[in-house]
Amino acid sequence: MSSSAEQFDRKARGEFARLGRTRVYRGELLRHPVYTRFLHWSVAIFFILSLLTGFAIYSPWLYRWLTPLFGGGPRTRALHPWFGVVFEVFFLFQFINWFAPMVWNEADRRWLRRMKEYVTNEDRVEPEEVGFFNGGQKLYFWAIAVTAVLFLITGLLMWFDDVVPRWSVAVSYVVHDLAALVMLGGLIIHIYEGTAHQPGTFRSMIDGTVTEKWAWTHHPAWYRAVTGRDPREVYEREKRRQAERERAVENWEREQDARERVADDRVP
Ligand code: HEM
Repeated sequence: MSSSAEQFDRKARGEFARLGRTRVYRGELLRHPVYTRFLHWSVAIFFILSLLTGFAIYSPWLYRWLTPLFGGGPRTRALHPWFGVVFEVFFLFQFINWFAPMVWNEADRRWLRRMKEYVTNEDRVEPEEVGFFNGGQKLYFWAIAVTAVLFLITGLLMWFDDVVPRWSVAVSYVVHDLAALVMLGGLIIHIYEGTAHQPGTFRSMIDGTVTEKWAWTHHPAWYRAVTGRDPREVYEREKRRQAERERAVENWEREQDARERVADDRVP
């Protein structure tokens, strides 16, 4: 990433930090600053608007009910490329913003090999080498980056179909639609991962923070980098504390039962 792009990104982070606020309480860590959240939700809104208008154009027979949302069929068709262009612009800024933590490395290759354990929740904590983003998140990011380029090229060819060869327009239809289907699949998985599969993740895109427990569970190497503490040690300590709590509750329940039995015996 060129240093002028990095400089721009640093400046934008600073400006947005003045516009919005992120409160980090004890036991929490800052995950996504205001600028990142702004970019993420701008990308998400314009991506979904592009997807909805795209579906209405792709299959009016199935999705005609969507067009009144955008002012009718012709307006839906006219708006779609503009939603797409705005998505591309925001994604470009997001690409710059997330380029550094999204660089692929050996740990990500290993993460992909053990994806089954991740999906089935076999391990309670992620391997210690998992950093700010895991291999699956990086894969999603790079898939968006590749499809964004495909959307842009094929979209422009279809938009200006009167000045480009007919075969290029025909190929563009197929590529554009396939890319949209891949992205739809990716988005469904992404929303599931960011909400139900990993509780505590969604708030990072709302108030910008996560709990320390979330951090050492899902991104141990990032936890170590920002706190300087050993995630495995914290996990073991938490496990011992949990076991002690369970033992204390069991003892309390046993004592309570014994007290109730004595009280019952005294009843004439
Ligand atoms: C509309 C529902 C959406 C929800 C609930 C959602 C939620 C989230 C959350 C919570 C994160 C932070 C994950 C973390 O810090 O580990 C995230 C990251 C991300 N989001 Fe979304 N998002 C949505 C839509 C989108 C859309 C439409 C796109 C792009 C087309 C997108 C692209 C990304 C990317 C690239 C990341 C970073 C990598 C990752 O965590 O997978 N998101 N999202």
